[in-house]
Amino acid sequence: MTGRFDISGHVAVVTGASSGIGRALATAFAEAGARVVGVARRAEALEAWRNETPGETAGVIADVGTPEAASGLSDQLTAPFGPVDILINAAGLNTRQAADEVTVEGWRATIDINLAAPFFLAQSLVGPMKARGWGRIINIASLQSVRAFPGGLTYGASKGGVAQLTRAMAEAWSGAGVNANAIAPGFFPTELTAAVFDDPERAARNAAQTCVGRNGQLSDLVGPALFLASPASDYVTGQVLYVDGGFTAK
Ligand SMILES: NC(=O)c1ccc[n+]([C@@H]2O[C@H](COP(=O)([O-])OP(=O)(O)OC[C@H]3O[C@@H](n4cnc5c(N)ncnc54)[C@H](OP(=O)(O)O)[C@@H]3O)[C@@H](O)[C@H]2O)c1
Repeated sequence: MTGRFDISGHVAVVTGASSGIGRALATAFAEAGARVVGVARRAEALEAWRNETPGETAGVIADVGTPEAASGLSDQLTAPFGPVDILINAAGLNTRQAADEVTVEGWRATIDINLAAPFFLAQSLVGPMKARGWGRIINIASLQSVRAFPGGLTYGASKGGVAQLTRAMAEAWSGAGVNANAIAPGFFPTELTAAVFDDPERAARNAAQTCVGRNGQLSDLVGPALFLASPASDYVTGQVLYVDGGFTAK
């Protein structure tokens, strides 16, 4: 990758690198020449990602599921390759508790990992980005940032929050050269969406709701993420980019 889309040499931290969207983006960024620090709790899965990924990678085994933990990680995250240029917040969970059955534990865990972790990680890493006058934060929003789905009350609340958090990060930091945007994926097959894809009728219904006529493949997210991580998006900040095959267009 050359020119405006070039991210080679940049240091990227990717949470959720052990699985799904985070793993796919961590791999793609390493292939594009970034030095990638992958973060997750499962050591084996993180090691497997590293073994299968060319380029310069490091793994940090960490739980970012509390604000205290997320804000205390900057030393570990900068140890492998130095100050971070790009943060991708892809760690997340969906408890799928029906509205009447939402528990305090489920609510807290979801808000902490989906909404608090992206902020406190960014807050702990943004100082050197601002000092250098360049940085990128990419959050992962959702169709549920703007749509209500059954069993999605807590998840939707967290993802609506991610959309607004992204705008607030842009307001706070883009004057210093740190752009913050979010990618809102449609339906992509990962551990998180196994319940959706294990039900062929449900998967087909979701595919039919898109303009393109199919569900997402993880490779569909790579171009948008590289755009938002590179100088090509210097004048793009505070936005939510729906990578959903047109699901939200209909
Ligand atoms: N798949 C979709 O269709 C879709 C659509 C819209 C939005 N999203 C969003 O995309 C993001 C990634 O989801 P995914 O579909 O790729 O799910 P996934 O395959 O289940 O991956 C989730 C990742 O988050 C990590 N994680 C979870 N809790 C953590 C914690 N406390 N500390 C550190 N890491 C933690 C997991 O690693 P460990 O278990 O190893 O810690 C795993 O790598 C999430 O924010 C999700 O809401 C997904």
